[in-house]
Amino acid sequence: MKALVLAGGSGTRLRPITHTSAKQLVPVANKPVLFYGLEAIAAAGIRELGIVVGDTHAEIEAAVGDGSAFGLEVTYLRQEAPLGLAHAVLIARDFLGDDDFVMYLGDNFIVGGISDIVSGFMAKKPDAQIMLTRVGDPRQFGVAELHPDGGVKSLEEKPQHPKSDLALVGVYLFTAAVHEAVAELKPSWRGELEITDAIQWLIDRGYHVESTTITGYWKDTGNVEDMLEVNRLVLESMEPAVQGESLDSELIGRVRLEPGARVERSRIVGPAVIGAGARVADSYVGPFTSIGADCVIADSEIEYSIVLPRASIEGVRRIEASLIGHDVQVTPAPNTPRAHRLVLGDHSKVQIHDRT
Ligand code: DAU
Repeated sequence: MKALVLAGGSGTRLRPITHTSAKQLVPVANKPVLFYGLEAIAAAGIRELGIVVGDTHAEIEAAVGDGSAFGLEVTYLRQEAPLGLAHAVLIARDFLGDDDFVMYLGDNFIVGGISDIVSGFMAKKPDAQIMLTRVGDPRQFGVAELHPDGGVKSLEEKPQHPKSDLALVGVYLFTAAVHEAVAELKPSWRGELEITDAIQWLIDRGYHVESTTITGYWKDTGNVEDMLEVNRLVLESMEPAVQGESLDSELIGRVRLEPGARVERSRIVGPAVIGAGARVADSYVGPFTSIGADCVIADSEIEYSIVLPRASIEGVRRIEASLIGHDVQVTPAPNTPRAHRLVLGDHSKVQIHDRT
Protein backbone atom coordinates (compact mmCIF):
# COMPACT_ATOMS: atom_id res chain seq x y z
CA MET A 1 0.00 0.00 0.00
CA LYS A 2 1.29 3.43 -0.99
CA ALA A 3 0.06 6.96 -0.29
CA LEU A 4 -0.40 9.91 -2.61
CA VAL A 5 -0.69 13.30 -0.96
CA LEU A 6 -1.89 16.22 -3.02
CA ALA A 7 -0.08 19.40 -2.08
CA GLY A 8 -0.18 21.21 -5.40
CA GLY A 9 -2.73 23.76 -6.49
CA SER A 10 -2.09 27.43 -6.95
CA GLY A 11 -3.24 28.56 -3.51
CA THR A 12 -5.46 31.28 -4.92
CA ARG A 13 -8.80 29.80 -3.89
CA LEU A 14 -8.16 30.31 -0.20
CA ARG A 15 -8.15 33.57 1.56
CA PRO A 16 -6.92 35.66 3.20
CA ILE A 17 -4.02 33.67 4.62
CA THR A 18 -2.92 31.74 1.57
CA HIS A 19 -2.57 34.39 -1.11
CA THR A 20 1.13 34.03 -0.86
CA SER A 21 1.87 30.63 0.57
CA ALA A 22 0.92 26.96 0.27
CA LYS A 23 -2.47 26.30 1.82
CA GLN A 24 -1.30 22.90 3.03
CA LEU A 25 1.11 24.70 5.35
CA VAL A 26 -1.55 26.71 7.22
CA PRO A 27 -0.82 25.95 10.87
CA VAL A 28 -3.12 24.22 13.34
CA ALA A 29 -1.71 24.46 16.88
CA ASN A 30 1.51 25.75 15.28
CA LYS A 31 1.91 22.73 13.01
CA PRO A 32 1.18 22.76 9.27
CA VAL A 33 -2.11 21.02 8.50
CA LEU A 34 -0.21 18.83 6.00
CA PHE A 35 1.92 17.34 8.81
CA TYR A 36 -1.14 15.88 10.54
CA GLY A 37 -1.92 14.08 7.29
CA LEU A 38 1.64 12.76 6.96
CA GLU A 39 1.58 11.54 10.57
CA ALA A 40 -1.77 9.82 9.97
CA ILE A 41 -0.35 8.06 6.89
CA ALA A 42 2.73 6.87 8.79
CA ALA A 43 0.55 5.74 11.71
CA ALA A 44 -1.50 3.65 9.26
CA GLY A 45 1.69 1.69 8.52
CA ILE A 46 2.40 3.18 5.09
CA ARG A 47 6.00 4.03 4.15
CA GLU A 48 6.08 4.94 0.46
CA LEU A 49 4.57 8.35 -0.18
CA GLY A 50 4.31 10.42 -3.34
CA ILE A 51 3.63 14.13 -2.84
CA VAL A 52 2.14 16.00 -5.78
CA VAL A 53 3.48 19.54 -5.83
CA GLY A 54 2.89 22.58 -8.01
CA ASP A 55 3.87 26.27 -7.90
CA THR A 56 4.59 26.12 -4.18
CA HIS A 57 6.88 23.07 -4.45
CA ALA A 58 9.88 24.81 -2.86
CA GLU A 59 7.94 25.63 0.29
CA ILE A 60 6.50 22.13 0.58
CA GLU A 61 9.85 20.46 -0.05
CA ALA A 62 11.56 22.70 2.51
CA ALA A 63 8.94 21.77 5.11
CA VAL A 64 8.73 18.00 4.49
CA GLY A 65 12.23 17.15 3.22
CA ASP A 66 12.81 13.47 2.46
CA GLY A 67 10.02 12.49 4.86
CA SER A 68 12.33 10.65 7.27
CA ALA A 69 11.16 12.88 10.15
CA PHE A 70 7.75 11.25 9.69
CA GLY A 71 9.07 7.75 9.04
CA LEU A 72 8.15 8.08 5.36
CA GLU A 73 10.06 7.82 2.08
CA VAL A 74 8.93 10.73 -0.03
CA THR A 75 8.98 11.03 -3.81
CA TYR A 76 8.00 14.46 -5.14
CA LEU A 77 5.83 14.46 -8.25
CA ARG A 78 5.69 17.75 -10.09
CA GLN A 79 2.34 18.75 -11.60
CA GLU A 80 2.80 21.56 -14.10
CA ALA A 81 -0.60 23.10 -13.32
CA PRO A 82 -3.51 22.25 -11.00
CA LEU A 83 -5.43 20.32 -13.64
CA GLY A 84 -7.49 18.32 -11.18
CA LEU A 85 -7.31 15.62 -8.54
CA ALA A 86 -7.59 12.87 -11.16
CA HIS A 87 -4.82 14.55 -13.15
CA ALA A 88 -2.62 14.17 -10.07
CA VAL A 89 -3.34 10.42 -10.14
CA LEU A 90 -2.50 10.38 -13.85
CA ILE A 91 0.93 11.93 -13.35
CA ALA A 92 1.60 9.61 -10.39
CA ARG A 93 1.00 6.48 -12.50
CA ASP A 94 4.64 5.34 -12.59
CA PHE A 95 5.14 5.97 -8.89
CA LEU A 96 1.95 4.10 -7.96
CA GLY A 97 2.41 1.13 -10.28
CA ASP A 98 -0.38 -1.38 -9.68
CA ASP A 99 -0.36 -0.96 -5.91
CA ASP A 100 -3.36 -0.04 -3.79
CA PHE A 101 -3.06 3.50 -2.47
CA VAL A 102 -4.63 6.06 -0.22
CA MET A 103 -5.03 9.48 -1.78
CA TYR A 104 -4.98 12.26 0.80
CA LEU A 105 -5.72 15.91 0.04
CA GLY A 106 -3.05 17.93 1.79
CA ASP A 107 -5.40 20.65 3.03
CA ASN A 108 -7.78 18.24 4.79
CA PHE A 109 -7.77 17.41 8.49
CA ILE A 110 -9.26 14.16 9.78
CA VAL A 111 -9.69 13.96 13.54
CA GLY A 112 -8.50 10.54 14.69
CA GLY A 113 -6.35 9.80 11.63
CA ILE A 114 -6.90 7.16 8.95
CA SER A 115 -5.59 3.90 10.45
CA ASP A 116 -9.05 2.36 10.90
CA ILE A 117 -10.12 3.40 7.42
CA VAL A 118 -6.99 1.88 5.84
CA SER A 119 -7.24 -1.40 7.77
CA GLY A 120 -10.98 -1.63 6.96
CA PHE A 121 -10.16 -1.22 3.26
CA MET A 122 -7.42 -3.87 3.37
CA ALA A 123 -9.76 -6.32 5.10
CA LYS A 124 -12.72 -5.80 2.75
CA LYS A 125 -10.84 -4.95 -0.42
CA PRO A 126 -13.49 -3.06 -2.42
CA ASP A 127 -12.33 -1.55 -5.74
CA ALA A 128 -12.45 1.91 -4.18
CA GLN A 129 -13.56 3.48 -0.94
CA ILE A 130 -14.69 7.02 -0.21
CA MET A 131 -15.25 8.91 3.01
CA LEU A 132 -18.29 11.10 3.52
CA THR A 133 -19.31 13.62 6.13
CA ARG A 134 -22.41 15.76 6.68
CA VAL A 135 -21.80 19.44 5.95
CA GLY A 136 -23.82 22.66 6.15
CA ASP A 137 -23.14 23.82 2.59
CA PRO A 138 -22.53 20.83 0.30
CA ARG A 139 -22.18 23.08 -2.77
CA GLN A 140 -18.48 23.59 -1.96
CA PHE A 141 -17.75 19.84 -2.09
CA GLY A 142 -18.19 16.67 -4.07
CA VAL A 143 -21.60 15.35 -2.99
CA ALA A 144 -22.73 11.72 -2.77
CA GLU A 145 -26.18 10.27 -3.20
CA LEU A 146 -26.58 6.89 -1.51
CA HIS A 147 -28.88 3.95 -2.16
CA PRO A 148 -31.13 3.01 0.78
CA ASP A 149 -28.71 0.13 1.55
CA GLY A 150 -25.80 2.61 1.87
CA GLY A 151 -24.23 1.86 -1.53
CA VAL A 152 -23.04 4.86 -3.57
CA LYS A 153 -25.57 5.80 -6.26
CA SER A 154 -23.98 8.90 -7.71
CA LEU A 155 -21.38 11.59 -7.12
CA GLU A 156 -21.45 15.17 -8.26
CA GLU A 157 -18.71 17.79 -7.99
CA LYS A 158 -19.79 21.10 -6.41
CA PRO A 159 -23.45 20.85 -7.48
CA GLN A 160 -25.71 23.91 -7.50
CA HIS A 161 -28.55 21.74 -6.24
CA PRO A 162 -27.00 19.05 -4.01
CA LYS A 163 -28.88 15.76 -3.74
CA SER A 164 -27.74 15.27 -0.13
CA ASP A 165 -25.64 16.89 2.60
CA LEU A 166 -23.03 14.13 2.35
CA ALA A 167 -19.76 15.67 1.21
CA LEU A 168 -16.72 13.80 -0.03
CA VAL A 169 -13.89 14.01 2.45
CA GLY A 170 -10.42 14.36 0.94
CA VAL A 171 -9.26 10.80 1.69
CA TYR A 172 -9.84 8.10 -0.92
CA LEU A 173 -8.69 4.49 -1.14
CA PHE A 174 -8.08 3.00 -4.54
CA THR A 175 -7.00 -0.21 -6.21
CA ALA A 176 -5.32 -0.06 -9.61
CA ALA A 177 -8.82 -0.04 -11.20
CA VAL A 178 -8.83 3.75 -10.80
CA HIS A 179 -6.11 4.15 -13.47
CA GLU A 180 -8.44 2.75 -16.08
CA ALA A 181 -11.07 5.32 -15.07
CA VAL A 182 -8.64 8.24 -14.96
CA ALA A 183 -7.33 7.45 -18.44
CA GLU A 184 -10.88 7.78 -19.85
CA LEU A 185 -11.78 11.14 -18.27
CA LYS A 186 -12.48 14.41 -20.05
CA PRO A 187 -12.06 17.77 -18.28
CA SER A 188 -15.13 18.99 -16.36
CA TRP A 189 -16.93 22.34 -16.72
CA ARG A 190 -14.21 23.86 -14.52
CA GLY A 191 -11.49 22.47 -16.78
CA GLU A 192 -10.24 19.84 -14.32
CA LEU A 193 -9.96 16.07 -14.41
CA GLU A 194 -12.26 15.31 -11.48
CA ILE A 195 -11.65 12.36 -9.17
CA THR A 196 -15.41 12.43 -8.56
CA ASP A 197 -15.92 11.59 -12.24
CA ALA A 198 -13.36 8.78 -12.01
CA ILE A 199 -15.26 7.24 -9.07
CA GLN A 200 -18.58 7.67 -10.92
CA TRP A 201 -16.98 5.88 -13.89
CA LEU A 202 -16.14 2.95 -11.60
CA ILE A 203 -19.70 2.88 -10.19
CA ASP A 204 -21.22 2.98 -13.69
CA ARG A 205 -19.14 -0.01 -14.74
CA GLY A 206 -20.16 -2.10 -11.77
CA TYR A 207 -17.02 -1.77 -9.69
CA HIS A 208 -17.55 -2.04 -5.96
CA VAL A 209 -17.25 1.41 -4.37
CA GLU A 210 -17.66 1.49 -0.58
CA SER A 211 -18.47 4.55 1.48
CA THR A 212 -17.94 5.30 5.14
CA THR A 213 -19.48 8.29 6.89
CA ILE A 214 -17.24 9.96 9.43
CA THR A 215 -17.42 12.86 11.88
CA GLY A 216 -14.55 15.06 12.97
CA TYR A 217 -13.56 16.45 9.62
CA TRP A 218 -12.24 19.83 8.64
CA LYS A 219 -11.37 21.40 5.33
CA ASP A 220 -10.02 24.89 5.22
CA THR A 221 -12.41 26.76 3.00
CA GLY A 222 -11.14 30.11 4.20
CA ASN A 223 -13.64 29.86 7.02
CA VAL A 224 -12.02 31.38 10.08
CA GLU A 225 -14.61 29.96 12.50
CA ASP A 226 -13.76 26.43 11.35
CA MET A 227 -10.06 27.07 11.60
CA LEU A 228 -10.38 28.35 15.15
CA GLU A 229 -12.51 25.35 16.01
CA VAL A 230 -10.02 22.79 14.68
CA ASN A 231 -7.24 24.67 16.45
CA ARG A 232 -9.28 24.35 19.67
CA LEU A 233 -9.77 20.61 19.13
CA VAL A 234 -6.08 19.95 18.59
CA LEU A 235 -4.99 22.13 21.52
CA GLU A 236 -7.41 20.30 23.80
CA SER A 237 -5.49 17.06 23.41
CA MET A 238 -2.02 18.59 23.24
CA GLU A 239 0.62 17.50 25.74
CA PRO A 240 1.82 20.45 27.82
CA ALA A 241 5.57 21.13 27.75
CA VAL A 242 7.72 24.03 28.80
CA GLN A 243 10.76 24.16 26.56
CA GLY A 244 10.94 27.93 26.62
CA GLU A 245 11.41 30.36 29.49
CA SER A 246 8.81 31.71 31.87
CA LEU A 247 9.67 34.64 34.17
CA ASP A 248 7.32 36.15 36.79
CA SER A 249 4.44 34.55 34.92
CA GLU A 250 1.59 32.14 35.52
CA LEU A 251 1.13 29.20 33.19
CA ILE A 252 -2.24 27.58 33.90
CA GLY A 253 -3.50 24.30 32.44
CA ARG A 254 -2.17 22.82 29.20
CA VAL A 255 0.44 25.27 28.02
CA ARG A 256 3.24 24.52 25.60
CA LEU A 257 6.17 26.90 25.34
CA GLU A 258 8.24 25.92 22.34
CA PRO A 259 12.04 26.18 22.43
CA GLY A 260 13.25 29.77 22.74
CA ALA A 261 9.80 31.15 23.62
CA ARG A 262 9.96 33.70 26.42
CA VAL A 263 7.06 34.68 28.67
CA GLU A 264 7.49 37.58 31.09
CA ARG A 265 5.07 39.10 33.64
CA SER A 266 2.19 37.42 31.86
CA ARG A 267 -0.64 35.00 32.45
CA ILE A 268 -1.18 32.16 29.98
CA VAL A 269 -4.33 30.11 30.45
CA GLY A 270 -4.25 26.91 28.42
CA PRO A 271 -4.77 25.12 26.29
CA ALA A 272 -2.40 27.39 24.44
CA VAL A 273 0.87 27.17 22.56
CA ILE A 274 3.55 29.85 22.32
CA GLY A 275 5.80 29.29 19.32
CA ALA A 276 9.56 29.00 19.13
CA GLY A 277 11.31 32.31 19.64
CA ALA A 278 8.08 34.18 20.42
CA ARG A 279 8.00 36.76 23.21
CA VAL A 280 5.00 37.42 25.42
CA ALA A 281 5.37 40.28 27.89
CA ASP A 282 2.91 41.98 30.28
CA SER A 283 0.06 40.17 28.55
CA TYR A 284 -2.76 37.71 28.96
CA VAL A 285 -3.04 34.79 26.52
CA GLY A 286 -6.30 32.92 27.01
CA PRO A 287 -7.53 29.43 26.17
CA PHE A 288 -7.45 27.94 22.65
CA THR A 289 -4.78 30.28 21.37
CA SER A 290 -1.83 29.43 19.13
CA ILE A 291 0.90 32.05 18.97
CA GLY A 292 3.27 31.33 16.09
CA ALA A 293 7.07 31.35 16.05
CA ASP A 294 8.86 34.65 16.56
CA CYS A 295 5.71 36.62 17.39
CA VAL A 296 5.69 39.49 19.87
CA ILE A 297 2.71 39.90 22.19
CA ALA A 298 3.30 42.86 24.50
CA ASP A 299 0.95 44.68 26.85
CA SER A 300 -2.01 42.93 25.20
CA GLU A 301 -4.80 40.41 25.78
CA ILE A 302 -5.72 37.71 23.32
CA GLU A 303 -7.72 34.49 23.42
CA TYR A 304 -9.34 31.91 21.14
CA SER A 305 -7.14 33.02 18.27
CA ILE A 306 -4.42 31.94 15.87
CA VAL A 307 -1.43 34.20 15.30
CA LEU A 308 0.93 33.25 12.50
CA PRO A 309 4.71 33.58 12.68
CA ARG A 310 6.40 36.92 13.18
CA ALA A 311 3.21 38.91 13.84
CA SER A 312 3.34 41.50 16.60
CA ILE A 313 0.52 42.71 18.81
CA GLU A 314 1.43 45.53 21.13
CA GLY A 315 -0.80 47.55 23.46
CA VAL A 316 -4.07 46.02 22.27
CA ARG A 317 -6.89 44.63 24.41
CA ARG A 318 -8.74 42.63 23.84
CA ILE A 319 -8.46 40.36 20.79
CA GLU A 320 -10.58 37.23 20.46
CA ALA A 321 -11.77 34.79 17.79
CA SER A 322 -9.16 36.17 15.39
CA LEU A 323 -6.80 34.85 12.77
CA ILE A 324 -3.75 37.05 12.32
CA GLY A 325 -1.40 36.44 9.40
CA HIS A 326 2.37 36.29 9.04
CA ASP A 327 4.28 39.50 9.84
CA VAL A 328 1.10 41.42 10.70
CA GLN A 329 1.51 44.33 13.13
CA VAL A 330 -1.35 45.35 15.41
CA THR A 331 -0.90 48.46 17.56
CA PRO A 332 -3.23 51.11 19.00
CA ALA A 333 -3.83 54.25 16.92
CA PRO A 334 -2.62 57.55 18.37
CA ASN A 335 -5.39 59.30 20.39
CA THR A 336 -6.09 62.16 18.06
CA PRO A 337 -7.73 62.16 15.65
CA ARG A 338 -10.01 59.39 16.99
CA ALA A 339 -9.73 57.09 14.04
CA HIS A 340 -8.73 53.57 13.07
CA ARG A 341 -5.71 53.29 10.85
CA LEU A 342 -5.76 50.17 8.75
CA VAL A 343 -3.51 48.63 6.15
CA LEU A 344 -5.36 45.46 5.17
CA GLY A 345 -4.61 42.99 2.42
CA ASP A 346 -7.19 41.88 -0.14
CA HIS A 347 -10.08 39.88 1.34
CA SER A 348 -9.16 40.80 4.92
CA LYS A 349 -11.97 40.97 7.46
CA VAL A 350 -11.93 43.36 10.40
CA GLN A 351 -14.52 43.76 13.15
CA ILE A 352 -13.99 46.94 15.13
CA HIS A 353 -15.45 47.60 18.55
CA ASP A 354 -15.92 51.35 18.62
CA ARG A 355 -16.40 52.90 22.03
CA THR A 356 -17.25 56.41 20.75
O1 DAU B 1 -11.72 18.60 0.46
C1 DAU B 1 -12.71 17.78 -0.06
C2 DAU B 1 -13.05 18.17 -1.48
O2 DAU B 1 -11.80 18.20 -2.20
C3 DAU B 1 -14.02 17.18 -2.11
O3 DAU B 1 -15.29 17.27 -1.48
C4 DAU B 1 -14.17 17.45 -3.60
O4 DAU B 1 -14.98 16.46 -4.19
C5 DAU B 1 -12.79 17.45 -4.27
O5 DAU B 1 -12.90 17.76 -5.64
C6 DAU B 1 -11.90 18.47 -3.60
O6 DAU B 1 -12.43 19.75 -3.77
P1 DAU B 1 -11.62 21.12 -3.96
O7 DAU B 1 -11.95 21.71 -5.26
O8 DAU B 1 -11.91 21.95 -2.76
O9 DAU B 1 -10.11 20.70 -3.95
P2 DAU B 1 -8.89 21.69 -4.02
O10 DAU B 1 -8.79 22.36 -5.32
O11 DAU B 1 -8.91 22.54 -2.78
O12 DAU B 1 -7.69 20.67 -3.92
C7 DAU B 1 -7.54 19.78 -2.86
C8 DAU B 1 -6.05 19.54 -2.59
O13 DAU B 1 -5.40 18.99 -3.72
C9 DAU B 1 -5.26 20.78 -2.25
O14 DAU B 1 -4.33 20.45 -1.24
C10 DAU B 1 -4.58 21.16 -3.53
C11 DAU B 1 -4.35 19.84 -4.19
N1 DAU B 1 -4.42 19.84 -5.67
C12 DAU B 1 -5.56 20.28 -6.28
C13 DAU B 1 -5.70 20.25 -7.65
C14 DAU B 1 -6.96 20.73 -8.31
C15 DAU B 1 -3.38 19.34 -6.41
O15 DAU B 1 -2.33 18.94 -5.83
N2 DAU B 1 -3.48 19.32 -7.77
C16 DAU B 1 -4.60 19.74 -8.43
O16 DAU B 1 -4.65 19.69 -9.68
